Amino acid sequence: MTPELVLNNGLRMPALGFGVFQSPPEETAAAVETALKVGYRHVDTAAAYGNERQVGEGIRRAGLSPAEVFLETKVWVSDFGYDQTLHAFEKATRKLGVDRLDLLILHQPAPDRFERTVAAYRALERLLADGRVGAIGVSNFMRTHLDELLARTEVVPAVNQIELHPYFSQPDVQKADAEHGILTQAWSPIGGITFYPGWGEQRRSVLQDPVIGAIAAGHGRSPAQVMLRWQLQHGRSAIPKSTNPDRIAENFAVFDFELTDGEMARIDALDTGVRNGPDPDTPRDVFDRVIPED
Ligand SMILES: NC(=O)c1ccc[n+]([C@@H]2O[C@H](COP(=O)([O-])OP(=O)(O)OC[C@H]3O[C@@H](n4cnc5c(N)ncnc54)[C@H](OP(=O)(O)O)[C@@H]3O)[C@@H](O)[C@H]2O)c1
Repeated sequence: MTPELVLNNGLRMPALGFGVFQSPPEETAAAVETALKVGYRHVDTAAAYGNERQVGEGIRRAGLSPAEVFLETKVWVSDFGYDQTLHAFEKATRKLGVDRLDLLILHQPAPDRFERTVAAYRALERLLADGRVGAIGVSNFMRTHLDELLARTEVVPAVNQIELHPYFSQPDVQKADAEHGILTQAWSPIGGITFYPGWGEQRRSVLQDPVIGAIAAGHGRSPAQVMLRWQLQHGRSAIPKSTNPDRIAENFAVFDFELTDGEMARIDALDTGVRNGPDPDTPRDVFDRVIPED
């Protein structure tokens, strides 16, 4: 069984999840099926990824019921607002083929339209009160966004999903999360953002980092496995993505070795303070992209 983390409302969540951003829809069902057969029991998707339907299909193909998998998805910015977000829940569950979600989070803070962000979060609170979701949270929220949200809403987010890998570990956001009892969840946990056209492709990939490489060689493991261990030993959730069956399995084989305190500190020291992904404070045209009904 996968090690679990306990969220601030008592809900248990497998620490290691399976990400599907940029998994083409035609490959996603097979990737999810492979991941579940390898042992993952937590999938992270999003309305904006355009593959919620295929995630649901992958779960069915693996012969599991949705209740056996921790399902996490995200409301896209164009669906922010109270009624719109309630409707976004209906869209997501219809596509996934489920009637409830384990974790529903706001994909972005969208500070250019924060009134709608707050209204969207109030809709998440409603869904939580109605038992339609097990927990609610946010993504890409910096300290200022958290402070503003917390001042205006009731339920402290269970999770804040942020860009977090050895080259960009956002200690300030992690500290803000910890102060409020919010679990930090790492997106691009092995630095995959560097492969995305237009986002991080100019930068060095942390998969090639010599410090990580040396630690990996010392354990007879891969750099990706070392980074996932680093995430988990810090008590974070991580959601690596792959559509390659060997790498899907490799990324899950991280529960039978341990990094030393010294190795953890050497990886901590790699932080450059430079993000590879988009700045959550910068509005983007893509915020207005409409999420289809089906
Ligand atoms: N909330 C947000 O704004 C946000 C943003 C980005 C991502 N996310 C979430 O976080 C998840 C993971 O982030 P990510 O996809 O950006 O990055 P990642 O998981 O750090 O890395 C994925 C990339 O690394 C490759 N890869 C996977 N395993 C590998 C291994 N063992 N060795 C070498 N390369 C490997 C993958 O290619 P192959 O598929 O070919 O293996 C892919 O190109 C996403 O899928 C999504 O669920 C959320």
